[in-house]
Amino acid sequence: MQQSALRHHSFGKPLEVLQLESIPVAEPRAGEVRVRLEAASINPSDFGMIAGTYGHLRELPAVAGREGVGVVEALGAGVDSVSVGTRVRFPGEAGAWQASACIAADELLVVPSGVPVEQAAISFINPPTAYCLLRKMVELKPGDWVLQNAGNSAVGLSVIQMARAFGLKTISQVRREELVAPLQAMGADHVVLEGSDWAKNSQQLTGGAAIRLALNSIGGESAIDQIKALGEGGTQVTFGGMVGDKVRFPTRFLIFNDVRLVGFWWDAYARRLGVAGVRAVMAEVYAMMADARLSLPIERKYPFSEYESAIKHAGEPRLGKVLLVP
Ligand SMILES: NC(=O)c1ccc[n+]([C@@H]2O[C@H](COP(=O)([O-])OP(=O)(O)OC[C@H]3O[C@@H](n4cnc5c(N)ncnc54)[C@H](OP(=O)(O)O)[C@@H]3O)[C@@H](O)[C@H]2O)c1
Repeated sequence: MQQSALRHHSFGKPLEVLQLESIPVAEPRAGEVRVRLEAASINPSDFGMIAGTYGHLRELPAVAGREGVGVVEALGAGVDSVSVGTRVRFPGEAGAWQASACIAADELLVVPSGVPVEQAAISFINPPTAYCLLRKMVELKPGDWVLQNAGNSAVGLSVIQMARAFGLKTISQVRREELVAPLQAMGADHVVLEGSDWAKNSQQLTGGAAIRLALNSIGGESAIDQIKALGEGGTQVTFGGMVGDKVRFPTRFLIFNDVRLVGFWWDAYARRLGVAGVRAVMAEVYAMMADARLSLPIERKYPFSEYESAIKHAGEPRLGKVLLVP
């Protein structure tokens, strides 16, 4: 039996190196299950992996895609911990942009039944990253202020909604005026426009309270504004670099304001947590998804056959994830 898969045989730009191919359907070995994909997401890190610039890479030829959800459709010998029909994470490391794949049963991440399938498809990378950024980097108490750029990204929308659930206040930087109202409707306290000199007035936004944590996934001027707005002893966590440039910032903020600059990478953090630790973080995410305290917009779904349109769409301004379905 054959199935479709989006693969690349060299590293490069997605539209230049990706191909829709027919590959054999794998049979689960002892201890494995075969999972049938329901929906996969398109994330910025997919493009980094396809380009060969990400923190870890796959052997070529590689199926692309890092995040998806599916249902168990076949059990290998000796598997009794899970049954056919169970909804689980679709394999990250094997590549999520394929119709089915085999996974070791003891590594499965089961999705609770109350979580909508499209939310599940985008639950495994950005929401746990947002959770850890808010919960694991600095000690925050209700009422504390958190600043972030890319406020309309999946991480950004997760931060807004989780912060509200935790009693934290947010300032979100965005590039487009039309995003202000929808982000406020999701619970953002303040939404500011990049390049608008907002950092000079940040004390007015917080009523004089110091900003404790800044979350940076952009770089460039956007990250420098954050450093200027952070309160004394505040921490900036960099976890993405959408601008792709080096950040040149005034060192005086490190010296006179005791600002701390650190990084975060969910892949490495999750490896350190281990399977049980990741399941514990995901349980927190799913509790919020199940009662809609956390709900992320979906921009559009495309079949694999229209992957070129899907990839172009994912690179355009939007508010929500683009999904691929087999
Ligand atoms: N370190 C980690 O563990 C980790 C985990 C998850 C995500 N991330 C990173 O977090 C970031 C957000 O990921 P996501 O999946 O949530 O993103 P997403 O939903 O795909 O949204 C992309 C965001 O990036 C903004 N953007 C794109 N190009 C930009 C540019 N040149 N300058 C300024 N803004 C730009 C977009 O703004 P517009 O709408 O205005 O274009 C949008 O807000 C990415 O950098 C990703 O790699 C890191």
